[in-house]
Amino acid sequence: MQFAKRMNQFGEGIFTKLAEIKRKKLEKGEPVVDLSIGAPNIPPADHIIEALCTAALDKNNYTYAINDQNDLLEAVSYWYKKRYGVDLNPKTEVCSLLGSQEGLAHISLSIIDEGDLVLVPDPCYPVFADGPLLAGAKLYFMPQKKENGYIINLEDIPEYVAKEAKFMIVSYPNNPTTAMAPDEFYVDLVAFAKKYDIIVLHDNAYSELVFDGQQCGSFLAFPGAKDVGIEFNSLSKTYGLAGARIGFCIGNEEVVSRLKILKSNMDYGMFLPIQKAAISAITQNQDCVEETRKAYEKRRDILCNGFNEIGWNIQKPQGTMFVWSEIPTNYKKSEDFVIDMIEKAGVIITPGSAFGPLGEGYVRMALVQDEEELRKAIKAVDESGILKV
Ligand SMILES: Cc1ncc(COP(=O)(O)O)c(C=O)c1O
Repeated sequence: MQFAKRMNQFGEGIFTKLAEIKRKKLEKGEPVVDLSIGAPNIPPADHIIEALCTAALDKNNYTYAINDQNDLLEAVSYWYKKRYGVDLNPKTEVCSLLGSQEGLAHISLSIIDEGDLVLVPDPCYPVFADGPLLAGAKLYFMPQKKENGYIINLEDIPEYVAKEAKFMIVSYPNNPTTAMAPDEFYVDLVAFAKKYDIIVLHDNAYSELVFDGQQCGSFLAFPGAKDVGIEFNSLSKTYGLAGARIGFCIGNEEVVSRLKILKSNMDYGMFLPIQKAAISAITQNQDCVEETRKAYEKRRDILCNGFNEIGWNIQKPQGTMFVWSEIPTNYKKSEDFVIDMIEKAGVIITPGSAFGPLGEGYVRMALVQDEEELRKAIKAVDESGILKV
């Protein structure tokens, strides 16, 4: 058998290694608290589940969906207007995705040719780099450094790189760094994209998970944004619908239409009952969004306060469902610290190096366990002694 060379750039990586250590621990009956993968454990509100179940009982809803239902497209437009103040043409500026991951993985195929240059953040959510790589792109990493508040500095991108780049991916509130970008960043981003004719893909997965009374909007609300790009949005975290796979690509008509054509050759659309659940989520009572936000904020406080009390100095994130922290000073490499965390304390977290070269020296913890589990994790880390210099 012979396989594609393009797959040689993807390995099993750290998550497989962590899963193996976890499996062995569980086999021995030892407790494990898993804060590695960002898999939310907060279920959807009742009305969303009811919409899904009602539609699932209708035998007509088992055909291929092929297209997004008009109701769904209208609902997304209504949601974007109400929530973000963005006007959309539902017919031409919205495309559903089988989770935003799916869109992020595939969209490069509709924009770039082999060898084209794509700008991605470092560190970044892995599919931002993997999607373009699958399509044969060359990558240029835009640093997200602590001294810049983990925000990309557009002025640092060399002119010859900007001239060559076909598209760029940016995302705030950011996974893994948790940073939020100020309005000026987006104003500059639109100007930069116009100057160099670069398509902007903005991933807005965490606009609803921001804390301490802050607000977060949409990239598309900035003047000129729709001329240069699109936004990905996801119902996974906001509405607890991760397993239902619901995301959207919204914005520039041309970019959206190319993705629609690509997808029409790849999948037959979103299961109709899931389309109904999505409509219910984004158009009905939004109290669940605030409840989810508060739950993550409380988890953030428990985890960060707890670790600070036992001697690991951690900054509280302003948003997202993650905590991003420098590793304790007695460690040099994030992977070594992560292995000790799991082997000695039974707490699984992700090494920053899994998100790109500039992630080295950091770890990411996902707030995906209940408060009690987080307290157990802090106690276990304290008792393991791994924070003691
Ligand atoms: C920044 C970011 N974008 C996209 C996704 C994928 O979300 P979805 O469930 O919509 O595929 C995630 C999931 O963790 C994420 O963190």
